[in-house]
Formats: sequence, C-alpha cells, structure tokens
Amino acid sequence: MRNDFLPMPALVEDVIVETPTIRTFVLQLAEPMPFRAGQFVQLFLPGVGEAPFTPSSSPSEPGRIEVTVLAAGRVTAALHELAAGDEVGVRGPFGRGYPLHELEGHEVVVVGGGVGLAPLRSLLYTLFERPGFARRVSIKYGARAPQELCFRSQYADWAARPDVDVTTTIDRPSAGWNGRVGLVTTLLDGVDVDVRDACAVSCGPEIMLKFVTLKLLEVGYKPPQIYLSMNRKMSCGMGKCGRCQIHNFYCCQDGPVFNYAEVKWMPEAF
Ligand SMILES: Cc1cc2nc3c(=O)[nH]c(=O)nc-3n(C[C@H](O)[C@H](O)[C@H](O)COP(=O)(O)OP(=O)(O)OC[C@H]3O[C@@H](n4cnc5c(N)ncnc54)[C@H](O)[C@@H]3O)c2cc1C
Ligand code: FES
Repeated sequence: MRNDFLPMPALVEDVIVETPTIRTFVLQLAEPMPFRAGQFVQLFLPGVGEAPFTPSSSPSEPGRIEVTVLAAGRVTAALHELAAGDEVGVRGPFGRGYPLHELEGHEVVVVGGGVGLAPLRSLLYTLFERPGFARRVSIKYGARAPQELCFRSQYADWAARPDVDVTTTIDRPSAGWNGRVGLVTTLLDGVDVDVRDACAVSCGPEIMLKFVTLKLLEVGYKPPQIYLSMNRKMSCGMGKCGRCQIHNFYCCQDGPVFNYAEVKWMPEAF
C-alpha cells in the first residue's frame, strides 16, 4: 500500500508557458494516480518545500497529470525554474472533488478568475468527455489583462462544442483588446441560463469568489446550486495536522470544493 506521506517521483515531461506568471507542468508519474476533477495534489521539491495544486488535466489520464501554477512565492517560484527532464515529488490525490452526480442533467455555469481556471479545466474535460451529461456548459472567465488569460488558445475549441459557450473579460481596457471589459461578475448579469435548472461552479481568488457568489444569489441561484473552492493553506492534506481547519471542517478532506449551503454561515467562507 502507498504511504500518503511519501511523495511519488514524477518526471517533468513538458513545461507550457501559459502567461507571464502561469506555467503548466506536464508530469509523468512513476505510477498512475487516479483522481477526480477538483481533488488536489501536493507537489514537493527537495530542499524547498511542498504546496497544493489541483490538476488541470483530465482524470482520464491518471499517469500523466498537468498542474498549472501561478508564481506566488517560494515553492511556486522554484517550480517555475523547472524544465523538461527535471523531477518533482507528488502526493495525493486529496480532498473532495466536484460533485459530478449533482451536475448531471443541469446547465453548468463555470466561473473562473485568473489561475482559478486551472482546476475548472479538469472539470471541463470531464464534462466534455461525457457528451449530454450536462445540458449545457457556460464558461465565464475573467483575468486582469489579456496577456493573463490562461489557456487562451483553447477557448475557440471549447466554444465549438455543442452546448458549450465561452465568454471572457478583462478587468480594465487594454490596447488591442476588443472583447468585454469588467469584472467576471459582469458576465453573470442577464445571462441566458434557466437559473432554476442550473448549477454554478466557481474557482478563483477569495475576493472574486465572494462577489461571484453574491451575484449568483442576486440573479436567483439558491445556495445549494453554488459550488466554490476554498483554497486554504495546507500541510498534510489528510486531516492530520489541522492547518486547514475552519470550524468543524478540514478543507483538505471536506473540501476544497464546498457547496455554498454548507459554508454560508461561516464568516471565513471568503
Ligand atoms: C487545494 C488547493 C489547490 C490549489 N490549486 C492551485 C492551482 O491549481 N494553481 C495554483 O497556481 N495555485 C493553486 N493553489 C494555491 C497554491 O497552493 C499557492 O499559491 C502556493 O501554496 C503558494 O506557495 P509558495 O511557497 O509559492 O508561496 P508562499 O511563499 O507560501 O506565499 C506567497 C503568497 O501566497 C499566499 N498563499 C500561500 N498559500 C496559499 C494558498 N493555499 N491559497 C492562497 N494563497 C496562498 C501567501 O499568503 C503569500 O501571500 C491551490 C491551493 C490549494 C489549497
Ligand atoms: S492540511 Fe493538515 S489537516 Fe488539512
């Protein structure tokens, strides 16, 4: 049996530069690590440390995962130094992923901000691999500036699928950008979605999650129809150290994906 405290070796097969601050690492694992979209792994660099990330690739390829990383501090800066042929350690998968059974047969509104589109991409692939599973998938994505839009080359392919639409926005006007301008919440105004039959799934910075959730409630979603990722600081990933505890929840085990109805009473939800 595998020891969940011991990182498994993984070879960096490729590094994809997504934006000036975001890179995707294609990792060939020593052995397959079956995971569900929304579950997370811990990436370990000897002598530097460990940090949690949610794979951005499809769970249908458990031996070759992609992890999309924003350079935020010590561990992520060191990860950004990696090149093809280097090695990292991987622990996991941990936590609760997206509740696929709750999404089946509904319209799914996927709301992402910045690198928050990375975990959502794994969910998108999962839905795309099951034609007809969701009645429709509506992707709303915002970034600060055009050059910070993650996975930009893929939007046209996603939108070309039946029953999938993609709308993007950037925070402020930018030279050469003819698309929408404004926070991602503006994409939720007057959306052509039957709110009574929809679920919304969001991932991004805490402040974005707060305002997206408030907007979803304002346009008619009920708390049980809203799912969000609570990405707290984590250590063990297994409910042992208490680092990620909020009230009676361990984010690493009970989350990182939560239903808003479960957490709306917590001042720390955002
Ligand atoms: C379940 C989970 C999934 C995640 N998935 C992704 C992902 O797919 N891609 C990605 O780029 N990032 C993801 N993150 C965030 C990522 O783990 C942090 O950016 C990373 O731990 C920062 O480590 P560092 O050593 O580089 O930064 P540090 O030097 O530790 O800190 C740099 C800055 O980042 C802040 N920070 C540190 N940890 C977190 C955290 N967990 N959440 C928010 N801010 C933090 C610090 O407060 C500080 O301001 C995820 C976090 C969690 C908990
Ligand atoms: S990270 Fe240790 S209990 Fe959650």
